Amino acid sequence: MKIHVFENYEALSANAAEQTVNTIRKKSNAVICLASGHSPQRTCEIFVEMAKSKKLDLSAVHFIGLDEWVGIPPDDPGSCHFFFSKNLFEPLGIKRSNYHLFDISADNLTAECARMDGLVSDLGGIDLMIVGIGMNGHIGFNEPGVAFHLKAHVAQLHNTTIEVGQKYFSEKKVLTQGITLGLSYLTNAKKVLLLANGEKKAEIVSKALTGPVDPTIPASILQNCEHGFVLLDQDAASKLPEKLRTEQQ
Ligand code: F6R
Repeated sequence: MKIHVFENYEALSANAAEQTVNTIRKKSNAVICLASGHSPQRTCEIFVEMAKSKKLDLSAVHFIGLDEWVGIPPDDPGSCHFFFSKNLFEPLGIKRSNYHLFDISADNLTAECARMDGLVSDLGGIDLMIVGIGMNGHIGFNEPGVAFHLKAHVAQLHNTTIEVGQKYFSEKKVLTQGITLGLSYLTNAKKVLLLANGEKKAEIVSKALTGPVDPTIPASILQNCEHGFVLLDQDAASKLPEKLRTEQQ
């Protein structure tokens, strides 16, 4: 794992977008998995601008959605589905066959997990994963206590996720479960970018990156990933020991 500290959220997001462009330049049929939420929001916007201005060929790229709230339909602006469509697929005109999201309307969510596992496997695995970290250290809906080896699964949401998750919705929602790719995908991806910005993330970032590697803080798994890069702004890095920071020029 390498840690890069950027001056601000804009610089961090520009770097993540640039790494995404580079991944696609190196491999035109790259498989890219993304979280939704506030952390990757600006990365998506910059990536869209770059892809358009550089006329990047996205025709063979496949996009995978990391997770989804169970019970929240795709047309709800707080759903992950809505986020991906609005911030990525619609502005870039991505073909329906080239993006893959959890379908929470499936009759059997266990079968839906198996479908996503099969799909990622058929695509040859994930080249680049862009994820955020929750206030409880979750990645995707890999909640505290999750086993590191899991593939796609349905998770009972942790109280912090239920409370903090309200920020995506205009009115109070009953959130109980999420469906998510498991942490084995982080271990097996060719490259992982974990993005965190803002002072509110400083405490959990420090625990995840400097504490024991333990399922109680799922994001601590990054410490074991040689292909893992943590991109932080100054505020999110403010509780890390100085020696762990690699200032990005
Ligand atoms: C969302 C997801 C979550 C978020 C995390 C941080 O698809 O996978 O794990 O990445 O909760 O959320 P933000 O970025 O909104 O602070």
